[in-house]
Amino acid sequence: MGAQHCWVMILILGFLFQARLLNSQNFACNPKDLTALQDFMGNLTTEFEGWTANSVADCCEWEGITCEPPSSGRVIKLELPRKRLSGILSDSLAGLDQLTTLNLSHNFLKGSLPMSLFHLPNLELLDLSDNDFFGTIPESIDLPSIQIVEISSNFLNGSLPSDTHTQYIYIYIYVNS
Ligand SMILES: *[C@@H]1O[C@H](CO)[C@@H](O)[C@H](O)[C@H]1NC(C)=O
Ligand SMILES: *[C@@H]1O[C@H](CO)[C@@H](O)[C@H](O)[C@H]1NC(C)=O
Ligand SMILES: *[C@@H]1O[C@H](CO)[C@@H](O)[C@H](O)[C@H]1NC(C)=O
Repeated sequence: MGAQHCWVMILILGFLFQARLLNSQNFACNPKDLTALQDFMGNLTTEFEGWTANSVADCCEWEGITCEPPSSGRVIKLELPRKRLSGILSDSLAGLDQLTTLNLSHNFLKGSLPMSLFHLPNLELLDLSDNDFFGTIPESIDLPSIQIVEISSNFLNGSLPSDTHTQYIYIYIYVNS
């Protein structure tokens, strides 16, 4: 009996909490984008004050984030170059399907490049240069809007597949180790 009571209380509290959250998220960050960003940060080993200090659910207010139009709550830019970020790059960034700019250059990110990054329909600018990424560049790439890819100064091998080159307007790829 006691345990049952407890569960009901937990459920009610859960609903109240959720309702409050939803309420405070009016005109705020899209929940899907928020999850993607939280997973991204969760996979880093650095505590990034620009975000953790900001407990507000509106990720559009976070440092390095641009939402456009602001009322849509959709993240279109994630720009955190030179922030001493370390850790691995989460696959979850693929959830940011409106993303046009991803600039995480000049950090200490390591591991392999997540395949999902190369399947972002709106991505125009990808700058991951000067990190510690390792391995080969994905062979299957689907970036219909891409204009600039910068992945120099990592430990990457290979190049973007030649059969996809025709889709690109301007590409600057500087791969070295
Ligand atoms: C790391 O990213 C994955 C998705 O790529 C996610 O499922 C996981 O929850 C993230 N880890 C943390 C601690 O946020
Ligand atoms: C990314 O950010 C760095 C540091 O601010 C800047 O120098 C660089 O030009 C940006 N990358 C692109 C491709 O615009
Ligand atoms: C790059 O390729 C060379 C030759 O195949 C190999 O020896 C090296 O380990 C590779 N480096 C990385 C970072 O994968």
